[in-house]
Amino acid sequence: MAKRPTSLPNIVINLDGSPADPIYRRLYDELRGAILAGKLVPGSRLPSTRELATDLGLSRTTVLNAFDQLIAEGYVEGHTGVGTYVSRALPEDLLHTRAKAAPLTKGSPAKRVLSRRGERLAATAVTLTQRNDKPRPFRSGIPALDLFPFATWARLTAQRWRNASYELLQYGDPAGYKPLRQAIAAYLGASRAVRCDADQVIVVAGSQQALEIAAQVLLDPGDAVWVEDPGYLGARGAMLGAGARLVPVPVNEEGLDVAEGIKRSAAAHVACVSPSHQFPLGMIMSVARRLALLEWAARSGAWIIEDDYDSEYRYSGRPVASLQGLDTQGRVVYIGTFSKVLFPSLRLGYIVAPPDLVDAFIKARAIFDRHSPTIEQSVLADFISDGHFARHIRLMRTVYAERQEALVKEIKKAGVFEVYPDEAGMHLVGWLPNEVSDVVAAQRAAEHGVDVGALSNYCLEQKMRSALILGYAAYDAKEIRKGVRQLAEALSQL
Ligand SMILES: Cc1ncc(COP(=O)(O)O)c(C=O)c1O
Repeated sequence: MAKRPTSLPNIVINLDGSPADPIYRRLYDELRGAILAGKLVPGSRLPSTRELATDLGLSRTTVLNAFDQLIAEGYVEGHTGVGTYVSRALPEDLLHTRAKAAPLTKGSPAKRVLSRRGERLAATAVTLTQRNDKPRPFRSGIPALDLFPFATWARLTAQRWRNASYELLQYGDPAGYKPLRQAIAAYLGASRAVRCDADQVIVVAGSQQALEIAAQVLLDPGDAVWVEDPGYLGARGAMLGAGARLVPVPVNEEGLDVAEGIKRSAAAHVACVSPSHQFPLGMIMSVARRLALLEWAARSGAWIIEDDYDSEYRYSGRPVASLQGLDTQGRVVYIGTFSKVLFPSLRLGYIVAPPDLVDAFIKARAIFDRHSPTIEQSVLADFISDGHFARHIRLMRTVYAERQEALVKEIKKAGVFEVYPDEAGMHLVGWLPNEVSDVVAAQRAAEHGVDVGALSNYCLEQKMRSALILGYAAYDAKEIRKGVRQLAEALSQL
């Protein structure tokens, strides 16, 4: 369609455009553009619909539709018998500014004004990778998604939707769906020796939100926080986001070195630890260290955040109780997740808060995002109370133990690096010869079709031997065999 002069002074209407847009919409766009560009000034009269239809060779209905849209959005005012006028309510200076303004781009000043907290958050390293493909060996942190009983989950979900009560559909309790909180309290008491009642359990959107709530409620900008070195990036991110000053505390075979932490910052406000299965090295914090940590926290008034992220998977050795269960002074914030037993996209986890923090945590949770979806919480409560949760853990424990064994065997056979069996967890550490950079090794592995983590990426100050983090839970024996072959090939080229 060509550009058409009209009875509107100085206005040429161009009805070209996407064939997907109806013609009235293109006319509307042209008239709106002329108003915003100041070519049609407020108060000016538009030609009648009949006139414009003749000028443009359009049906009157098309023009009427365009006018109706402009009236509905307030660009023009129409009065029967009097005519249609550009609205005076649109201030002229705004129109002229718009006419001159360049489109907003990412770097334009109006987009750059962040709060200090916003700047901090934007600058904090976080994993944003979204995965759509089947997990490939040895991506870590992922359970065996193909072995999850989705038919059961679907049945329980359908059952809940069929009988969706008002309780499930309105705003829920920010602390979580009561039957789920009760089920979590019972499970943690029995299997992790956590001492709590259901009122201390707060259902959250995974461990990450638990860390975020704890950081925002317990820390002011500049406060010192002990973090394990090497340690979990998600914990560091949440602490940095709250403006905390990270104090790296080395871990050795007994876990976090408490004496070293006290030497570096006795007045720290918070210590983040993974005592049952240190992330990523896998050691258990010794009883002596646990007692020293609790003693320091009680004496100095510090809080301990205990991340019990993969405690369900212990294959041999004695069961390891939680640090929280040893705490008599109410200094431990215990956090756990369903990402490892169910699936990570569920975004459900929990905090067991010491009594003094329960109200503040629930309030913060409500402010951040009100609460987790109640239907999913109710399905999970059913999944636990019907015994599916315990059964799935039992099954996966056997499967993951076998997978770990297969990985150790294949690595030893290939002779690519040193690896030691672990009594727990879903990943192993493969120790490289020191002259090989783990970052380069991980890059080379990715080029050969395997995903591994580089230990040095989890280190702050501590200089560790080069090592790779290898998840095994999500991969069967065949995939593990092939993955190790690819890995050996990648490493042979270094
Ligand atoms: C140490 C540690 N904590 C917690 C999590 C779980 O995080 P989320 O519950 O936010 O999925 C992970 C996941 O990989 C982890 O490695």
